[in-house]
Amino acid sequence: MTLTKFEALPNCETAKFVTALSLAANGVAIVTTDGDAGRSGLTVSSMVSVCAEPPLMLACVNSDNIFCELADVNQAFAINLLAQSQQDISNTFAGFGEDPDADRFLSGSWVKRTTGSPILEHALVSLDCALLEATTHGTHRIYIGRVLSVASNDTQPLVYSRRGYAHIS
Ligand SMILES: Cc1cc2nc3c(=O)[nH]c(=O)nc-3n(C[C@H](O)[C@H](O)[C@H](O)COP(=O)(O)O)c2cc1C
Repeated sequence: MTLTKFEALPNCETAKFVTALSLAANGVAIVTTDGDAGRSGLTVSSMVSVCAEPPLMLACVNSDNIFCELADVNQAFAINLLAQSQQDISNTFAGFGEDPDADRFLSGSWVKRTTGSPILEHALVSLDCALLEATTHGTHRIYIGRVLSVASNDTQPLVYSRRGYAHIS
């Protein structure tokens, strides 16, 4: 990664960066993939819409996660934004369960829509995406997807802030 003319300037300390951003409030989603390479899913807070025309979504996943290997082959992923009542699903897909080898998809009710990526029933918003671009920066891989279908439930979102779940009313 080149920073051109800013190369010689002081760098932002990692700890300061991480602590500062822990103050932000983010939605929580389960990003999933399924296809020829196999099925995987993990909890993320680093997802955002890129633009509406065409409808594009972005999610960042640690390159070490098996999700990356599978999504790159499957060429598809889904982003399932969680409702406030789905905190347990967030914990399961973050690996906080008692048995880390247990099938995470036993938590929640999952269906397939357009690409075959797992879609969570009763999610706040679910977006089924065809992979448009994947690129790696630092420790993470950035996935940009073209949204092929969207569904939503008008309920409260699950929010993560200050290293914990936050409730909004
Ligand atoms: C609220 C929350 C948000 C997270 N956001 C991300 C994220 O944006 N990207 C990421 O790679 N991991 C994120 N993680 C961590 C992953 O969920 C976790 O490392 C992963 O599920 C570990 O799974 P593994 O056992 O499949 O490696 C987040 C975890 C939590 C609890």
